[in-house]
Amino acid sequence: MARNTVIPTGIANEFGASEIIVTKTDLQGKITYANDVFCRLSELSTQDVLGQPHNLIRHPDMPRSIFKLLWERIQAGKEIFAFVLNMAMSGNHYWVLAHVTPTIVDGQIVGYHSNRRRPTEGEISAIQNVYTQLLAEEKRHSSPRDGMDAATKLLEEMLADAGQSYDEFFWAIRNSSRV
Ligand SMILES: Cc1cc2nc3c(=O)[nH]c(=O)nc-3n(C[C@H](O)[C@H](O)[C@H](O)COP(=O)(O)O)c2cc1C
Repeated sequence: MARNTVIPTGIANEFGASEIIVTKTDLQGKITYANDVFCRLSELSTQDVLGQPHNLIRHPDMPRSIFKLLWERIQAGKEIFAFVLNMAMSGNHYWVLAHVTPTIVDGQIVGYHSNRRRPTEGEISAIQNVYTQLLAEEKRHSSPRDGMDAATKLLEEMLADAGQSYDEFFWAIRNSSRV
């Protein structure tokens, strides 16, 4: 699937507050399980998604620096909560509040698991403000690698200025934007 030819439409694919979007991956991030809600929102069949890399639904407005943090955390055996903007096959989008965890068997990481729920409008607007700044920093650099490193530094500076760890930053948005 040539994802770079899909243009974001600006239209949201809606889902209910009680729905949970689930995928599991192998160690490389290739999808090994996807529930019906994931398939519906991504506009894909189970057959389409199994074995595909998870960046299949990557939205171009998502900062690379957030995925870098996600992978660092889960590869270290830790969980992460993150707001993620995803893109369906049509270019429609959907925001999620993701909880990504490693699956550990006999002390070894054997894969990863993500559960996602619908964030509130308040959470979306708070995180968009931060992601817009990270994305702008990434785009200021001609090399994606340099852009990602610079945006990672910017995120660290933003957190240091606020006196927060990443987790405190996440929960501050979560707890202040419930409506
Ligand atoms: C369990 C799991 C769930 C993931 N879920 C998403 C997701 O919903 N959307 C997404 O864009 N990337 C997701 N990723 C991250 C992708 O693997 C990838 O790092 C990201 O899309 C950036 O792709 P890129 O490095 O090709 O730019 C997930 C990774 C794992 C391990």
